[in-house]
Parts: sequence; C-alpha cells; structure tokens
Amino acid sequence: MEKRIAILPGDGIGPEVCEAAVQVLKEIEKLYDHRFEYAYGEIGGSSIDKFGTPLTEETLATCRQCDAVLLGAVGGPKWDQLPGDQRPEKGLLGLRKELQLFANLRPVTIFDALAESSPLKDDIIQGVDVMIVRELTGGLYFGEPRERREVAGDTVAIDTLQYSRSEIERIVRKGFELARERRKLLTSVDKANVLESSRLWREVVDEVAKDYPDVDYSHMLVDNAAMQLVRNPRQFDVMVTENMFGDILSDEASMITGSLGMLPSSSLSAEGPGLFEPIHGSAPDIAGQNSANPLATLSSIALMLAYSFSMQDEANALQDAINQVLNDGYRTADLTNERETALSTTEMTKKVIDAL
Ligand code: NAI
Ligand code: MG
Repeated sequence: MEKRIAILPGDGIGPEVCEAAVQVLKEIEKLYDHRFEYAYGEIGGSSIDKFGTPLTEETLATCRQCDAVLLGAVGGPKWDQLPGDQRPEKGLLGLRKELQLFANLRPVTIFDALAESSPLKDDIIQGVDVMIVRELTGGLYFGEPRERREVAGDTVAIDTLQYSRSEIERIVRKGFELARERRKLLTSVDKANVLESSRLWREVVDEVAKDYPDVDYSHMLVDNAAMQLVRNPRQFDVMVTENMFGDILSDEASMITGSLGMLPSSSLSAEGPGLFEPIHGSAPDIAGQNSANPLATLSSIALMLAYSFSMQDEANALQDAINQVLNDGYRTADLTNERETALSTTEMTKKVIDAL
C-alpha cells in the first residue's frame, strides 16, 4: 500500500522520537512491501521561531494532504513567557480543531515487564487494559464566551461548557464501536448531578446504547471515576467522556502504569487524517541527549497502522516487538535505575527494529 505521512517533530525530544518512528516505519515498508512518503512540517515553538506563529497554513495543508499525522511534542521554557494565544500549545489545539479530531483515544495498558514502575500495588494493576475515549473539540476548552469582565468593581473570568447533541453522539458512538471490538463494556463519565451539559450527555448515551445491545454500559460521576481508577482500574474497558474530564482522567490513568515514556495516543476525525502522538511532553530536561524513550512514539505508530491504514498485522507485529525488547530486559534511562546499562534513543530503536 502507498501512504503519505505528515511528520511534525515539534520541540525538545520531539525530533528525536520522530526520527526513531521514521526508522521503524521504513523497516515496516521493507518487511511488508508498503510505500510510505514522509512530509515534514513545523509546529509549536520551532514554528514560532521560524514563522512567528505556532501553526502555519503550510503545515495545515501538508497534514490535509496526508493519510495520517505523527507529532512529537511541543513546548518548552523558551516560549513560556509568551501570551496564551501565541504559545506552542496553541499550535496543537489549532491542529486538533482544524483537522476536526473529535475523538482522542488513549489506551492504557500494563507492560508486564514494567509492572514494578507503577506507583500502585501489583495486584491492583495486573491485567489493566483501559481505553479512554475523550471528546477533543468541544466543551470547556472551546466554548464561548471565554473572557474577562469587570463586574461591580471585581474581575470575573468566564469559560463556557457547551455541547450539542450531535457532538455528543459522534464521540459516544465511537466509544460503543470500540467497546464492541474489545470486552464490550462501556463506562460513560459525566457530572450529571450538577451540569446541564452532562444531563444531555447522559440522555444521548442512553439513546445511542439502543444500537449496541451487545455492549454493557453504565454511567459514572467523574469524581467517583477518578477514585475508581486507582481503587480498581480493572473494572474498566472503554471510558467515554467530555474534553476536560478526559484530559484529567487520562493523565491519571497513564500514571497507573508509571511509564510516561511508554503510552501512545491517537486523535481521529470522521474522514480526514488522524493524529498520532506520544502522551508525554517535550522533556526539555533531556532534549538533545539521545536518551529519550522512543517507545511511546513507536506505540503511536502502531495505532496509526491499525486505525488509519487498516494494517492490523503490521500494528500487532510492532506492538509485539516493543513488548519483546522490554521482556528481554532492555531499558532506556527513564525505565531503570541502572544508568550504566541504559540504552540511548537510537539503541532502543535498533532493538525494536531487530525484534520486528
Ligand atoms: P514532559 O512529559 O515533557 O516531562 C515530564 C518528565 O518526564 C521529565 O522529567 C521528562 O524528562 C520525562 N520524560 C517525558 N517523556 C520522556 C521520554 N519519552 N523519555 C524519557 N523521559 C521522558 O512534561 P513537562 O515537563 O510537564 O512539560 C515539558 C514541556 O512539554 C512543557 O513545555 C509542556 O507544555 C510540554 N508538553 C507538551 C505536550 C504535547 O506536546 N502533547 C504534552 C505535555 C507537555
Ligand atoms: Mg493533558
């Protein structure tokens, strides 16, 4: 198959982990007789430095012409003093909005070989396999009005949590579809005891559920969900929720595994290219040292192969290769206390390619 992939390395360790991904993609081309074309673009701080804006029309056009987008990470201390609407993160938010990436999927799985790095007890995390489905283009992060007002001599800041029936329906459907392919269990997370948008959310879930009688579903309040995730994470299969709740819960869930450098994420639209990225940031403290863990980005590639290219065999082979190098005891510096034996980014990438 022929595919075009946009590569947006971004800042910090972004370029290093993206380079690792391209090496692995090239190996997959060879092994499975595919042809991938790579189109590079700027985003975040590196785009600000070059073009004065975190997201250019050119980068957007590149992404739109591709079948999938790989992003490294954006941000760093160099750009921390910029006003909110000019910061590197704005590039990522803009990209999500422009590509209409309404569904953010974050699989949270335990790597048996790394179970000791979880802050939770072994018997709690054994076998955890959760898919968090977060709505990504609506809710509090985009609702209007969002502004400050002077009211009776005081300063008032306003954000708006707004959702339409259609916005809720498409993300909830995505959740049910995924549950159907997995353990057929869906938990919809909301705050329906307080928020009107959550009451509409619940209504829509109940309606959509009628189309998925084979999926067992339930509602859970977000504060309870936050607690249940650390008390008994195994109870969850697919969790579907709105933007901000999903932002918080997915970070919480990622810490269950204790492996920030391991976890991938994908953001999908109805028809355009999907965006694939590691969940970690630009790690400015280790940037440029060839020591970043590339595995979260390589897992993101596995999601790209599966979700955007329907290359399930290739995706499985890559995920198996990642598991194998971990089982063989190979570790990057973030995964071990024995610094002398830690592999560099390029060494770890080579191990995965060998395992493939
Ligand atoms: P971070 O994820 O960049 O780093 C947190 C800690 O984990 C650091 O000690 C870092 O060295 C380590 N780490 C992260 N990824 C690693 C990897 N692949 N291998 C080895 N170690 C790794 O989060 P932090 O420090 O809060 O943010 C740094 C910058 O990244 C900020 O400017 C922030 O805004 C940005 N950021 C960007 C994101 C994105 O592009 N999606 C997401 C989160 C943060
Ligand atoms: Mg977050």
